Amino acid sequence: MSPDGDRCYLADDWPVALTEAGFDPHTPTVWLIEGLLQYLDENAVATLFGRVHSLSAAKSTLLYDVVGKTLLESPMMAPLVTAMAERGSPWLFGTDEPGELAGRHGWSATVTDIAKPGNEWHRWFAPAAPMDAPDVRRGYFVEATRP
Ligand SMILES: C[S@@+](CC[C@H](N)C(=O)[O-])C[C@H]1O[C@@H](n2cnc3c(N)ncnc32)[C@H](O)[C@@H]1O
Repeated sequence: MSPDGDRCYLADDWPVALTEAGFDPHTPTVWLIEGLLQYLDENAVATLFGRVHSLSAAKSTLLYDVVGKTLLESPMMAPLVTAMAERGSPWLFGTDEPGELAGRHGWSATVTDIAKPGNEWHRWFAPAAPMDAPDVRRGYFVEATRP
């Protein structure tokens, strides 16, 4: 727990706080990591997925979105990346192999272009590019399941 009272931050030992609050790691659960990973460095991302894995029973589900590395490093993103850094919230992480984050722990992952669920829910501005198209500047949505 944090020194400032009841708050528990991502860098704290939140798995202990979660289980002390009643979370049962032996019951299948659903995790949602949305709009977060780009703010973390690679080590913090790895720690987060490792913690989620260690708290997840078989048949648990993990949903997350990821900024593609191709998109993050593209010239069109440079103004946004600069602006976010200047505001103290730098975008640090992107990957074009987003399924691997869960897959490295043995989870099976279904990866889609972020535009796919976005279009299904009428919340995205562009069509999804085919997943086998190379060098697409995009984000990803991943649905992973622990066997
Ligand atoms: C786009 S919002 C996503 C909000 C989230 N989907 C929710 O429903 O609360 C980005 C979130 O990332 C958090 N965040 C940004 N940088 C962070 C960091 N370094 N460590 C922990 N959280 C961070 C922000 O506080 C914010 O809640």
